[in-house]
Amino acid sequence: MDINTQVNLGGLMMKNPVTTASGTFASGKEYAQFFDVGKLGAITTKGVSLDGWQGNDTPRIAETPSGMLNSIGLQNPGVDAFVKKDLPWLKEQDTKVIVNVSGHSVDEYQAVVEALEAHEGIDAYEINISCPNVDRGGLTFGTDPRVAAEVVSACRAQTKRPMIVKLTPNVTDITEIARAVEAAGADAVSLINTLLGMAIDPYKRKPILARVVGGLSGPAVKPVALRMVWQVHQAVNIPILGMGGICTGLDAIEFILAGASAVAVGTANFMNPQSALEVVSGIESFCANQGVKDINELIGELNC
Ligand SMILES: Cc1cc2nc3c(=O)[nH]c(=O)nc-3n(C[C@H](O)[C@H](O)[C@H](O)COP(=O)(O)O)c2cc1C
Repeated sequence: MDINTQVNLGGLMMKNPVTTASGTFASGKEYAQFFDVGKLGAITTKGVSLDGWQGNDTPRIAETPSGMLNSIGLQNPGVDAFVKKDLPWLKEQDTKVIVNVSGHSVDEYQAVVEALEAHEGIDAYEINISCPNVDRGGLTFGTDPRVAAEVVSACRAQTKRPMIVKLTPNVTDITEIARAVEAAGADAVSLINTLLGMAIDPYKRKPILARVVGGLSGPAVKPVALRMVWQVHQAVNIPILGMGGICTGLDAIEFILAGASAVAVGTANFMNPQSALEVVSGIESFCANQGVKDINELIGELNC
């Protein structure tokens, strides 16, 4: 059976609904030794800031039941290094490129988009207003609808490329932020970033992460992510890139039924480097077995 898996994520046409979650796939080069990354609908890069950031002190990773905590702190070498080292390679892959953008200030977000605009081979931006691991910027932009809208408007003024805005689950009402960024010009929203958490070593009586708290990801967060995708789907008219604990094609189908037009595979890449590819084939098998001819038929089609 011929199945249409192409989806439209706010103007970004993806040959299938699967991308990688920022920060879990670098720019894809390392994973290319395990599979043809051109089989993915898109690659989403690690967050890119203007001049590069050192990241947080170690330890900044901890395993938790069904997940992990990280407090990387958006370590990255900056726009120039990204453009020089990663973009030429990304351009050669037969897939779409989503560049994840970070900033410590509205001006920095805007400057990163402005700097990237000069280059071809970028198909969309994902503006990360939701990182819990940096002191300035990150989460503070994503928890206040007014500030969130300010960042989005500033970036919108720089680009006509599709702009996805990444939301944090660390708020009381995620639909309020989703509506604010939609009104400010976002073409799509992505959710969820990590949930604030912590881990303790009882023998040392110390937190495991140097920064004490970090962001929880992996299968442990999937029910929270599904709930938020479902809520946001009812609140906005722009498409959703859903993520949080996706490991299999069936997980992805759950997100699509909840309202996601596309999905991202994150922490699962650390357990099995072929996870994203397996999610693509899992979606296709589900459609074939269920007689679904077009993946778009499933988006938001949850029977409540
Ligand atoms: C080690 C690590 C680094 C991450 N770095 C970023 C980042 O740079 N930018 C971003 O928007 N999200 C970042 N995230 C969040 C993921 O993209 C994703 O939103 C989250 O992990 C939930 O998906 P998952 O459970 O499939 O991992 C990071 C997550 C992890 C685990």
